[in-house]
Amino acid sequence: MLFQLTEEQLMIQQAARDFAQQELKPGVIERDEHQKFPAEQVKKLGELGFLGMMVSQKYKGSGMDALSYVLVMEELSKVDASASVVVSVNNSLVCYGLESYGTEAQKEKYLKPLASGEKIGAFCLSEPEAGSDATSQQTTAEDKGDYYLLNGTKNWITNGSTASTYLVIAQTDRSLKHKGINAFIVEKGWAGFTVGPKENKLGIRGSDTHSLMFNDVKVPRENRIGEEGFGFTFAMKTLEGGRIGIAAQALGIAAGAYELALAYSKERKSFGKPISDHQAIAFKLADMATNIAAARMLVYKAAWLKDQGQSYTLAGSMAKLYASKVAMEVTIEAVQIHGGYGFVKEYHVERLMRDAKITQIYEGTSEIQKLVISRDILK
Ligand code: CAA
Repeated sequence: MLFQLTEEQLMIQQAARDFAQQELKPGVIERDEHQKFPAEQVKKLGELGFLGMMVSQKYKGSGMDALSYVLVMEELSKVDASASVVVSVNNSLVCYGLESYGTEAQKEKYLKPLASGEKIGAFCLSEPEAGSDATSQQTTAEDKGDYYLLNGTKNWITNGSTASTYLVIAQTDRSLKHKGINAFIVEKGWAGFTVGPKENKLGIRGSDTHSLMFNDVKVPRENRIGEEGFGFTFAMKTLEGGRIGIAAQALGIAAGAYELALAYSKERKSFGKPISDHQAIAFKLADMATNIAAARMLVYKAAWLKDQGQSYTLAGSMAKLYASKVAMEVTIEAVQIHGGYGFVKEYHVERLMRDAKITQIYEGTSEIQKLVISRDILK
């Protein structure tokens, strides 16, 4: 076993760390407060090649490995999870889905601008009544020959209004259950497609979350991804990689909060000495560091398995389950270590605590990860 990053991975990690400090940190509190999408920063992330990291250069991607991707996700998430979720969705769900399962024409037309960061993508699976229970899609795609007629509503869609390209999952033949589900590429601006109001969220407030409405939207047949009925498998396979990205986001949120708490505990004095000299604080830091290290191992392992071409379903779910739990616990402790300062916005940790919560919800709740893990170990 090699517990060592390559020179190239270290360079990518450093580039992401520098970007987070120089470009994301200034303004992150304000963006959170005003729910402002980090548009300028996302554009620069695209220029750095961080929006199509694992896509081959043939399709204008950066051709990097999954481990480099999680290193970037971790560093960006230490500072701004609202920006890193854009990176995660565009890379893991949209670009990966198109590169793995799209036709050559779809890759030419849609993947290239997404991988280069010229355009942003969104992944549209969740519905008002189909969040965890993803097979119960109510959005319909009626087969009309040359096109499908799309009708329904999608909820909580990341990049809902900033995206140009949407991967939409819909039911074509209900009698076939999950085998009657298809995935489609839908463009912003098509007749009948409207974007609902922005959600007012607890965390990742800078990210752009909307419901989407489809009312008799005509989707050309050539925009279906994969064979007829492939949509549910498409969503599951794509989410498997997505879960590694969100696990890395959770890891980054935890690590960011820990680093702030560590630094603060050395500066802040009480009872005549730095609070880090009090065992009550030192032991908290010890637990935080240990849990983060364990989460990191799971996240890197899942990415490594993906890079080796091995199955990562189980590892990805374990990484997401554990890292998101650690993110929640560590951020709560980071607020506690900061005391009253932790409760105000200037010290960043309260935002990280709010941001941590979403990592236990999106791309499969913790309960869904336990379902995936238990099914695997019991099969
Ligand atoms: N890969 C391939 N096929 C899979 C699969 C996988 N990982 N998981 C399930 N399937 C297949 C099964 O083999 C089965 O097919 P067959 O019957 O032909 O064998 C079929 O799919 C149905 O599977 P299940 O019977 O297991 O379905 P289920 O309904 O019991 O459970 C689930 C499936 C795992 C719970 C799934 O519904 C799920 O993952 N739900 C969570 C959805 C989710 O993550 N949503 C997040 C929304 S996206 C998001 O958050 C993006 C964002 O904005 C950040």
